[in-house]
Order: sequence, then C-alpha cells, then structure tokens
Amino acid sequence: MSSDPSAPTPLPAPAPALTAVEIAKASTEKMAENPKRYFWRLLGYILPYKKRLIFGILAGVAAGVSNGILLLVLKSVFTIVLPVGAGEVRPEVYYPFADIPVLTNFEIRRPDIAEWIFVLIVCLSIPTLLLIRALFQFIHQYMMLWINLNVVHELRRQCFGNVMRQSLSFFNVIKQGDLIQTVSSQTNSAAAASSQLLSALIQNPISIISIFAMVLIMDPLYTLGAVVIFPLCLAPVILIARKVRKAGGKEEEAAGGQLVTMHESFSGVRLIKAQGREQYQTDRFVEGSLRLNRFVMRSRKAVELATPAVEVVGSIGISIGMLYAWKSQINPETFLTLNLGLMSIYPHVKALSRVQLQMHKCAVAARKVFGFIDATPEVDDKPDAVVLERCRGDIALHDVVFSYVPERRALDGVSLHFEAGKRYALVGHSGSGKSSLLSLILRFYDVDSGRIEVDGLDIRDYTQQSLRDQIGLVSQDTFLFHDTIEANIRFGLLGADREQIERAARLAHAHEFILAQPQGYETVLGDKGCTLSGGQQQRLSIARAILRDAPILFLDEATSALDSESERAIQSALAELSKGKTVVSIAHRLSTVLDSDEIVVLGEGKVIDVAPHATLLERCPEYQRLYQLQYSQS
Ligand SMILES: Nc1ncnc2c1ncn2[C@@H]1O[C@H](COP(=O)(O)OP(=O)(O)OP(=O)(O)O)[C@@H](O)[C@H]1O
Ligand SMILES: [Mg+2]
Repeated sequence: MSSDPSAPTPLPAPAPALTAVEIAKASTEKMAENPKRYFWRLLGYILPYKKRLIFGILAGVAAGVSNGILLLVLKSVFTIVLPVGAGEVRPEVYYPFADIPVLTNFEIRRPDIAEWIFVLIVCLSIPTLLLIRALFQFIHQYMMLWINLNVVHELRRQCFGNVMRQSLSFFNVIKQGDLIQTVSSQTNSAAAASSQLLSALIQNPISIISIFAMVLIMDPLYTLGAVVIFPLCLAPVILIARKVRKAGGKEEEAAGGQLVTMHESFSGVRLIKAQGREQYQTDRFVEGSLRLNRFVMRSRKAVELATPAVEVVGSIGISIGMLYAWKSQINPETFLTLNLGLMSIYPHVKALSRVQLQMHKCAVAARKVFGFIDATPEVDDKPDAVVLERCRGDIALHDVVFSYVPERRALDGVSLHFEAGKRYALVGHSGSGKSSLLSLILRFYDVDSGRIEVDGLDIRDYTQQSLRDQIGLVSQDTFLFHDTIEANIRFGLLGADREQIERAARLAHAHEFILAQPQGYETVLGDKGCTLSGGQQQRLSIARAILRDAPILFLDEATSALDSESERAIQSALAELSKGKTVVSIAHRLSTVLDSDEIVVLGEGKVIDVAPHATLLERCPEYQRLYQLQYSQS
C-alpha cells in the first residue's frame, strides 16, 4: 500500500486478556464476546482513507436517494402511459403527483412532437435513472472495495509480521493450519465484514427512508397498513438469522479444521506414505469436508428458506392491499407505484437484518486477528538493546535453568564456559538437553533463571538479530525452501554473490551433486527438498552455515545423515572452516568429536563433566558408558 504514508493508526487497542496462544485455541463462542469494540477498532483502520470513504458514502447516499426518485419517475410514467391502454384520450398536461401535497402543481406538458416519440422519451427516463443509480452504486462499491482491500492488506501485514516475531514457544503449541487461516482468511473476513457493515448501515437506511417517505405521502393509510404486515414478513427472517449465526460460526471452525488436516497431510506426506496411512488421512479429510458441508447446508437452508417465506407472507399482504384498492377506488398508477415501492424496501430491510450476523462474523475474525497483532513475543528485544558487532565468540553460561513445561527441567543449573576460538562437543543421551542448550544461546527461548553471556554481556542485552548474525547453525532438522538451490544457500547470507555461494558449496562437498541436478544451481527444489537425499539436504544446510561465516558455529548432528566417507570429508572441511571460531558440536557418533578441545557430558539437563576425551575416558563413568556403547556397536 503505497498511496497512504500515514498508514492506519488503530484506535487505542482494547488490551486483550488472552495471549496469542490462548486466542489461537479459544472457541468461536468465546471469540464473539463484546463484538462492538472490535468493530470500532476496525473502523480505525478504515479512517485513514477518509476522502475515499466520504466519496464512497456520498455515492451510496445518492444511490439510496435515487431509489425514492425512481418511484416518482415510475409514477409519472404510469400516469402518462397507462391511460392509453385503458382507452382514455391523452390530455395535454399531466399532473402525475397530484396526490403528493408538495408536488401537486408539478406538471408535464406534452411537447409538439409525434405522440409515440413523446411516450418513448417518457419511458426512456426509467433506464436513464437506473443508469444513474447504477453509476452511483458502482462508485460506492468500488470505493468500499478499495478501502476493504487496503484494510485487508494492512491487517495481513501486521498480523503476519507480528506472528513472525513470536518466539518458538508460540510455534510449538500452535497449529500451522490455524495460523494460515487467521493470516489469510480471517483478516479478509474481518475487513470485508467491516466495510460491508459500513456500507449496509449507510445505504440501506437511506434507501428505506427515501422510498418510505414517497409511499407514505402517496397513500398514508395503505402504507401504514403495510407497516403492520411488514414485521410479519420479517419474523421468519429474524428466526432464520439466529440459526444462520450459529451455523456460520461453526462453519469457520470447520473450515479451519480442514486447513489443519490438509497442511499436516501435505507436509507429513512421507510419514503417511511410509505408514501406509493415505486412506486414513483421506478419511479424516472427507469427514471434515462432510462436516463443513453440513454446516454450510444448515446456514444455506435457513437463508434460502427466508425468501419464499417472505414472499408468501408478502403476497398475503398484497391480496389484502388489492381489497383495499378496490374498496377505496385508488387509481391504478398510484397502486402500482405503491406496491413497487413497498416491495423495493424489502431487500434493504433484509440487508439491514443481516447486520447483526455480519457483526458477529466480523467480531470473531477481528478478535483472532487483533489477538495476533497485539501478542507480544515471549522473547523480545529490550528497548535499549545493543547491536552485537563482530564478536570474539566467548560464551559463558551461569547456573542456567530452563524448562519447556513447568514440571520438567530440560536444563538444570548448567554452568559452562566456551572460550573463544576453541572447539567443544556436547554429548549425552537423547533428551539430555543438548539441543536445548544451543537453543538458549541462540535465544530461541529465555532462561528461567541464571544467565548466558556472549563476550561478557548478557545475551538479553543484545538485539536478537545481531546476536544470531554471529552464529552459524546447522541443525538436526534441515529445512529447504521451495526455491532454487542457489537461493537456498544464499539464505545464510543474503548479500552473497554466486562465487561465494559456489565456494561454500565446494567446502560442504555439495558442488558436484548440485551440478548434477537438471539446472545446476538454478534447480528449484520441491517442497521440503523432496528431490534431494537426506545427506544432500544436510550438505546444503552446511553450505548455508559456511557462507554465513559467523564467529560462532553450532553443529547439531550436522553430519548425521551422511555416509562415513563424506562425513570424514566434511569434517575436515569443517575443521578448516572452524579455525579461529568457537564451535559447539553435538554428535551421537563420538568418533567425530574426539579431537574437540573439550567435551561436555550432559545427563538429564545437568553437566556431568567437562574435559578432553582422554581425561573423560579415565574419570567419567557416564562418558565411558557412552563410549563403550558405540565401541561395541562398531
Ligand atoms: N519444544 C519442546 N517442548 C517441550 N519439551 C521439549 C521441547 N524440546 C525438547 N523438549 C524436552 O526437553 C528435553 C531436552 O531435549 P533436547 O532436544 O534438548 O534433547 P537432546 O539432548 O538434544 O536430544 P537428542 O539427542 O535426541 O536430540 C527433553 O526431555 C525433551 O523432551
Ligand atoms: Mg537434539
């Protein structure tokens, strides 16, 4: 959105009591509480487009008023045209609005032209007015859509941006399908509903008032009679709206569930195939799809019932009206116009009756969207955080305690010192806290107590970005984007040129297999890197880390997916690369870390011992067990 630099400044946010995670999990009913304040906040997003808004509203008002004028035109056309059909002689002067007090003397004089031309011109006034009304209507819709799209864009931008800022603990608990639904479609629902609401609340009342005023003046008694019958027409609509509302909320929920199933099925396709669970997943999907259909059907059924119900009740009203017309000898053109007018009120009333439903939908969606926009990440930069320039790579942990879930400590009183430029290894059983330790230094999570220092300063005093810029990470699970191989490596250092990328790929022993791909470095990888083997994917992620050339290097099982030969080759490349860097590697295969300066033995979140290989082998029983376990295996 480029046109408005003073991008929407939302009204002061009603601080939600729920965290982003809670909002993501909350039910539709809970979400719909206090809908008005979300509507007000959405208005704050619309207000920056004041000029267009006013213009759009004026066009809407004009379109509404032209409904009333249309009735007047119709009446004068009837007055001029209908008597001919009745075999009357055409008078020279017409008083079409003789029954409307203020317009009693309004006259249409027949000009000196052929009669049929005159009648044709009179008749053409209807399409002309409809054209004008359509034009206003178009401007109104256009402006509203324009505003709507800009609001959607702004909501999406804020929502996605803030979701990306959230810490890993948020992503650990949230379902990705839900997240996608909120960012892509709930933003849409919120914005669309709000601008539709605005439109409905402006245009419909004006149309209703202008039409109603006309018919009331023409025949007060008839109109008032209709007013009595009208609520009867609305009764079914009101009853039905209640049903629609319930089904509507469930519909959104079911649609979200569908997205979650789809997302999990597609991203977990390897597992599904390996376990032969294609049918199982398909059944789950089909079940969800049917559920969704049931809710859609329920709300549609109600909506579709509304129209015939109203027509039947309305036609009874018209029958009574006929009786009245016969009794009071009302003239045909007035009768026609009255009924046309009263009937044309209906769609506007119907639209107004939908307002509550829309508000509900809007509130549910807005609540979720604003929840994500307002959520503060658990790990956040301090206001006065400093930028960590190229660091030495000295890392110290002081009595660090950390747990993912309250009861179980993943790290328990860990104190360690990784000196700059040395190579360390973390060993220990699965679940002993090795990866967690690296995550803490990367500040994916904040410690519960104790502190971590890099170059002598608490990492919470640095900006997260600058801290992570100093760390190259090859993690346990490789992730590749659906993009070219080149772009995937460049992700480590966005400004890198082709030469640097190739150099990194060579060091990671990836250059050869990359060239063997159909388009070399330009080959686009399938989703999740399907076209590469596990080892090849790992080498790409090593190349990424090499390219980053950061003073600290974390290798979490970096070579686990490689065969011994390429592992040895990469080990030597990594050894070359890690000169002068602080390296912390995690490896299940002890052979790859034997030459580390120091090896840290972890057990159940505690440091058991720290020493070089030979010393550990002598004095640490836990290490001896690990070592023997591997020795006996090989
Ligand atoms: N995202 C998470 N949420 C909750 N608990 C977690 C999470 N990640 C790890 N844990 C728990 O924290 C403990 C330490 O896990 P961690 O991943 O650090 O082990 P690890 O030593 O790296 O194991 P491995 O060798 O299998 O990779 C484990 O008990 C694990 O269950
Ligand atoms: Mg791990």
